[in-house]
Amino acid sequence: MKKSKNNNVKNKTPKLETVGDFINFAIKQFKRNKVYFGHGTDNAKDEAVYLVCHGLQLQNCFDDSTLKEKVKLRGKNKLLKIIDDRIKKRLPAAYLTKEAWFMGLPFYVDKRVLIPRSPIAELLEERFVPWINPEKILRILDIGTGSGCLAIAAALAFPRAKVDAIDISPAALKIAAMNCARHKVTKRVRLLKSDLFEKLKGKTYDIIISNPPYVGKNEMKRLPKEYYHEPEEALLAGRKGDEIIDRILNDAAKHLSPRGILVVEVGNSAPLIMKKYAHLPLLWLDFVRGESEVFLLEKGLRVGF
Ligand SMILES: C[S@@+](CC[C@H](N)C(=O)[O-])C[C@H]1O[C@@H](n2cnc3c(N)ncnc32)[C@H](O)[C@@H]1O
Repeated sequence: MKKSKNNNVKNKTPKLETVGDFINFAIKQFKRNKVYFGHGTDNAKDEAVYLVCHGLQLQNCFDDSTLKEKVKLRGKNKLLKIIDDRIKKRLPAAYLTKEAWFMGLPFYVDKRVLIPRSPIAELLEERFVPWINPEKILRILDIGTGSGCLAIAAALAFPRAKVDAIDISPAALKIAAMNCARHKVTKRVRLLKSDLFEKLKGKTYDIIISNPPYVGKNEMKRLPKEYYHEPEEALLAGRKGDEIIDRILNDAAKHLSPRGILVVEVGNSAPLIMKKYAHLPLLWLDFVRGESEVFLLEKGLRVGF
């Protein structure tokens, strides 16, 4: 028998009738094709459930009766296309659904912004206790806001605070504005196009948070294909990945209130940052959900960084 040249998922499809059939099929295909996870889920099952559920606009895909529900022809074609795009184009699920969940909140996302996943969420859930007194927080800065996820989550975690959210990308700021409106924080989150602290002369903050670009040129080449759908300026930070972090550390002290804290995610640049800034009292934080490299620096411990 001649092999078909067309390699579409559709052409390899066994008989798929129910929601459960589609989930199992997607799981097998994701595993067989070694799809990369890490933009919202970390395994084939969660990714399959999320995409099938979203594709069919179901509230949940977990109860037996939903799993046994028959999928109509339109739904079938839609799901096969989603699964095909996830595998062939290596599109992260969030760009297929135009939605990402962060701290239990939905955010609009597309390829103009990084898909929210910063571990800083865990610190926001705890309102940065024990490093600050949450009741005294009035001004927060989010550097490199992207979809606005951290700035919005910060505004919701600190209802008395005003948040400045800056980004160098006008396209990202448009999306952040949509998300601010969706979460009703437009009055407290000010979006600003700025190259780091450029437009913030004389401004000080009780908390500065940032998930800046921190990928070096060589590391960038080795990233799974899914990352190449994200904006390059959200990931790449010079040859070694430390360019933006250096600039943040250089200027942050001027923009922190006397008891302010700086919290920066640095990913795989951590060993380099630890070495370069061994003279600073950087506190490397532990996380309950997964590993990550985030440091915290208290202004009180250092007058100028
Ligand atoms: C890793 S993404 C983080 C986005 C978002 N905060 C999050 O956690 O999902 C980094 C963001 O920094 C922005 N950025 C890159 N260089 C910048 C600069 N020099 N000044 C301000 N923002 C910058 C990018 O446009 C991107 O939106």
